[in-house]
Amino acid sequence: MKRLIAEREKARLGGGERRIEAQHKKGKFTARERLDMLLDEGSFEEYDMFVTHRTTDFSLDKELYLSDGVITGHGTIDGRTVYVFSQDFTVLGGSLSETNALKICKVMDQAMKVGAPVIGINDSGGARIQEGVRSLSGYASIFQRNIMASGVIPQISAIFGPCAGGAVYSPALTDFVVMAEKTSYMFVTGPKVVKTVTGESITDEELGGAHVHATKSGVTHFVGENEAEGILLIKKLLSYLPQNNLEEPPVALCSDPVDRLNENLNSIIPEKPSIPYDVKDIIHSIADNGEFLEVQRQYARNIVVGFVTFNGMSTGIVANQPNYLAGCLDINASRKAARFVRFCDAFNIPIVTLVDVPGFLPGSAQEFEGIIANGAKLIFAYGEATVPKITIILRKAYGGAYIVMSSKQLRGDVNYAWPTAEIAVMGSMGAIEVLYNRDLNAIENPEERAKFVADNAADYREKFANPYEAAKYGYIDDIIEPRNTRFRIIRALQTLSTKKDVNPPKKHSTLPL
Ligand code: HXC
Repeated sequence: MKRLIAEREKARLGGGERRIEAQHKKGKFTARERLDMLLDEGSFEEYDMFVTHRTTDFSLDKELYLSDGVITGHGTIDGRTVYVFSQDFTVLGGSLSETNALKICKVMDQAMKVGAPVIGINDSGGARIQEGVRSLSGYASIFQRNIMASGVIPQISAIFGPCAGGAVYSPALTDFVVMAEKTSYMFVTGPKVVKTVTGESITDEELGGAHVHATKSGVTHFVGENEAEGILLIKKLLSYLPQNNLEEPPVALCSDPVDRLNENLNSIIPEKPSIPYDVKDIIHSIADNGEFLEVQRQYARNIVVGFVTFNGMSTGIVANQPNYLAGCLDINASRKAARFVRFCDAFNIPIVTLVDVPGFLPGSAQEFEGIIANGAKLIFAYGEATVPKITIILRKAYGGAYIVMSSKQLRGDVNYAWPTAEIAVMGSMGAIEVLYNRDLNAIENPEERAKFVADNAADYREKFANPYEAAKYGYIDDIIEPRNTRFRIIRALQTLSTKKDVNPPKKHSTLPL
């Protein structure tokens, strides 16, 4: 018994007091402190505390630490089981050894059998250099499990330190990445290696800080001001997710009236079609208690994605954002939304799509980078999704972008439009330029030309810049009063809760990745 207590005490010290102090000085918590913050009090069951590495090369046999740099096990968050691993930077920089990988694989395997999410807290210099191919094979085994678990159990990665190599590729294979400002870094190779190989001098923050991954690469989905806030974000995120793909998402208690009217919505769309507004005001208005957990808030801001509840029902929101790039679809927005739609579909979370999109972003930059293939991802994601899909056209739904944004023909279940909706192949000015090109060329006087355009644009708008034409053909199911939107969405979600739809049997699709 004495030995057990002493050994446990030793294990809890990880790489020792000095390194724990250094960790704290950097504004970071230790691997165990993070688990204490994440899990319900007293719920943690630890596995493999007494594991040590088996390496003798580079005198590593003199550096033996109980737990070998990663704390693993399971616990609960709000009473629901989760499996966890938390890398301990105080032990050889949290680097991944063969035995360390075996510990992680063990909890991942159990999580798959039990059907519970895996949360990995990463704080690691990647593969343990002294172990060579054995540590590489450890990462490969984790990657393989990440892939098999994808779409079966939610996988969430926190990045709470300088993470390199495999310590970033495993998170990249998971569903959500959470970083903390100023202490989290993600890079395939750190600044020291970059300097050696390419000569480039760059700081941790510039190469792979939270800001870079939130705004430029889109690798991270959430950024906390610090680790504690990052952990709260993980807990909040889990509250919207089912335990696995065979379960429905949890239903939260809801005190917000189902039939709450939003009078503000009847006048939220500006008179002029070119004036922007913030679509998040609409999301906050209609969601339960105005709460919205936005995913990738700072990346591709022309599209907004995230989670809300409607009468307690967990729902994914995808919305064009007229406030940014006029809400057009570009490469990054298409990829961001496609990934989110696929996640929701995999985990039985219905999708509500709010449409105000003038089209795909034109220009050589987008064409050269592959807007065609990337835009196709979003079409694919919506068309493939079998969860309930509710679409509300708020204003513009032009051309291909109309089709993409969960149109009826992409198996949209309930498609509504506000009276301000404009459903057309393109905006009026563009249409007149194309339709009357020859007439316009023949008019030399600029004033006459402008009048010709304005008159014809008015006719065009009369015909197409409204929802009635689409309603006539049944492409939208109803035109609704904006203030009733919350109620209409909730009723549709309730009706669709027993929806069944299937895709033909196949090994997998050939989605244009
Ligand atoms: C063994 C490591 C280590 C590693 C760090 N340490 N990384 N030990 N293997 N990969 C040890 C250090 O020797 C040191 O030990 C302690 O951890 C802290 O490291 P520092 O460098 O002092 O910390 P810091 O300055 O904060 O820098 C952290 C770092 C840097 C940015 C992570 O250590 C670094 O660049 N490490 C190498 C990163 C890397 O290139 N890894 C290989 C990736 S390849 P002491 O004893 O002093 O405490 C890979 C393969 C998979 O992962 C690829 C999949 C596609």
